[in-house]
Amino acid sequence: MCGITGYIGDGITLDEDDDAGAAAGNGGVASVGDIVHEGLRNLEYRGYDSAGVALVGETSGLTVAKRSGEVDNLTVPDVPDATLGVGHTRWSTHGPPTDANAHPHTDCAGDVAVVHNGIVENHEALKRELADHEFTSDTDTEVIPHLIEEELAAQRGEGDLLNAVRAVEVRLEGSYAICAVREGEDEIVVARRGSPLVLGRDDDATFVASDVTAFLEHTRDVTYLEDGDVAALSADGVEIYADGDLVDRGVETVTWEADAAEKGGYEHYMRKEIHEQPEALRQTIAGRLDVDGGDVDLDVSFPPGFLADLEEIQIVACGTSNYAGRYAAQLFEELSGVRATVEIASEYEFGAGRSPDRTLVVAVTQSGETADTLGAVRRANAAGARTFAVTNTLGSTVTREVDDTAFIRAGPEIGVAATKTFASQVATLTMLAVAIGRERGALGAADARPVLEGLRDLPGAVQQVLDAEPKVREAATEYGDSEAFFFVGRQLGVPVALEGALKLKEISYDHAEGFAAGELKHGPLALVTPDTPVLAVLTDGARADETMNNVTEAQTRGAPAIGCVSAGEEYGTLDVSLPVPDVGLVEPLVANVYLQLFAYHVANDKDRSIDKPRNLAKSVTVE
Ligand code: M6R
Repeated sequence: MCGITGYIGDGITLDEDDDAGAAAGNGGVASVGDIVHEGLRNLEYRGYDSAGVALVGETSGLTVAKRSGEVDNLTVPDVPDATLGVGHTRWSTHGPPTDANAHPHTDCAGDVAVVHNGIVENHEALKRELADHEFTSDTDTEVIPHLIEEELAAQRGEGDLLNAVRAVEVRLEGSYAICAVREGEDEIVVARRGSPLVLGRDDDATFVASDVTAFLEHTRDVTYLEDGDVAALSADGVEIYADGDLVDRGVETVTWEADAAEKGGYEHYMRKEIHEQPEALRQTIAGRLDVDGGDVDLDVSFPPGFLADLEEIQIVACGTSNYAGRYAAQLFEELSGVRATVEIASEYEFGAGRSPDRTLVVAVTQSGETADTLGAVRRANAAGARTFAVTNTLGSTVTREVDDTAFIRAGPEIGVAATKTFASQVATLTMLAVAIGRERGALGAADARPVLEGLRDLPGAVQQVLDAEPKVREAATEYGDSEAFFFVGRQLGVPVALEGALKLKEISYDHAEGFAAGELKHGPLALVTPDTPVLAVLTDGARADETMNNVTEAQTRGAPAIGCVSAGEEYGTLDVSLPVPDVGLVEPLVANVYLQLFAYHVANDKDRSIDKPRNLAKSVTVE
């Protein structure tokens, strides 16, 4: 997830307290560069690996400045005649966070500059077609300015940026929001498919950004672009094209205050991040699934023979990442035929009698900085095992200490309670399980296909659950004041039950516990009363009928029951039934989104400090 922004106009006359004015230091007029730079500061929550701008002026031409690090590391050049500019703040996916990989990217002639949010899945194939172009970065993005250059050349001087972008965007596969500028052209051309893009209109200026936060202090009149839209922005207005036709997308007025705007209009980052899951998951799987071929490409290669001889996969992780690991361990066994164990990282020792050269230790960590997980990796490395990280954070410590890494690409997560990163961790680990199974010959293409179809359909399924939020909010209001909450499931439902309980206790401070449903009757049932709701995962992959028997045992003791149930199935005795779309092995992961929303609304009704719960930190760097 990156942030992109752009502005076209004559600069802005500032109020004393205007942020861009303060940045400009003149309290008079903010230049195009100041406005774009300020927009990037407002978007930094979307990524902070590098920042860059491209400014265009009538006599100065195209000026590009970019560098790795946070937005304030970037010195925006003074280009007094600039009338338009675009900017980018990066969350790295393809290529490390270096100056060269920072956006904007340019064509060979340095006439066209592009900023991009998303992933161009077919960039390698496109790059092969552009063999005579000079590439200077490792990014997927760089193909775009070169394709525009080709297109402009094909139009033999007749062409303009708008037509070139329209011709190029249909060749891009994956998700993208792009802003393109060209020396000598007085417009910004933008396009979106799968990644957000919003336009802001002022009397004599137009803004564009990944979200309104970038320009909210200047205008509240916005137009949301839709997938497939390509638009030309000038200071006087916008022209939006869909399928070649000029369309009117209307103008809405944003009523949020600045603080809410930073959270995309949500009151808390956590709820925003819950709602970002479809976008995060699309990024997680982008370019990695070959559904028809029944295969995945995680861009990792193990030494020859290593997977064939593999005896055990040990997963080490803490908290939510540990529950993602518990989910994955079941999939590793089922899909790759390798015994898989999960350990709490702080408890991990390599263990006598195990063969280090036949063991893969997988560290799952959002931050890549958790001291307990790093400790486990170091113990595994010391024992001589091969180590592998699944993380969200490029350049994090864990990536430097393991043999291989797969990034989950969920984008920055600010809420202390992990939400979208859990979903992206499980999706990435599912792909790893398929990759290992396929390479070992334990999983045929025909058996892999339904798993990959489930992953492909996951973002849409999660969206359906998010659309049903009012029902969960109602349940949270009805049962939120209970004495305690029990979460149950079987098989893949167990880690989801554990995660559901962790989420609730973490942000609501209520007592909540997760169990394997069959264990209720072996002790915890003594705690069950009419004041202890039971939340159950009753989906495919979670032995729903048997779990429902245990739920009924609790209901018999008066407990209310809320069930996440596979769509089309029905358990008439549930007090609340929440339908979960059918996506096979990742279906319990979709049920988890209901549990996240339940936790959120219970905590919100109690006015808890949701994004920063008491006593907790986002990254726990002490043992
Ligand atoms: O960054 P990590 O994934 O290594 O963090 C592990 C745990 O600290 C983390 O998942 C924690 O449990 C979250 N606050 C849960 O919401």
